[in-house]
Amino acid sequence: MARELFIERFLEIAKQYIQNSYAPYSRIRVSAVLETDKGYFVGVNIENASYGLTVCAERVAFFKAISEGAKKFYRILIYSPDINPSPCGACRQVMSEFVDDNFEVIICSEEGEPVILELSRLLPYKFSTQHRR
Ligand code: THU
Repeated sequence: MARELFIERFLEIAKQYIQNSYAPYSRIRVSAVLETDKGYFVGVNIENASYGLTVCAERVAFFKAISEGAKKFYRILIYSPDINPSPCGACRQVMSEFVDDNFEVIICSEEGEPVILELSRLLPYKFSTQHRR
């Protein structure tokens, strides 16, 4: 799907899913829509009273997709009505396990135009076991 159409269609869906975010501690709600070869998967952030157990929207979207057999990941749209989101370091590493260098991260908030970045720019010199000696 063309990027413009993807943003138009899935930003709306990301906004609807915000109601499923469970963020009583930070009150920062985030949703993420992931485009794959098996369709689209939406994740929301899920916090916990034991704060470190919180899982970000991006990882929820990836784990849902992988569990359903997705093998190719094209782009992810990340949305928050509460902040200008940016994937955390842990999510960058998790995403990098599954995607090509041209995988797109599209960051959306209530203000301004979406920001489009390649994951390779967000996580240069990533850790990988691909080139093991
Ligand atoms: N969070 C995400 O879900 N994705 C991001 O890109 C950044 C942060 C969540 C984690 C936590 O529930 C809340 O935002 C505040 O850190």
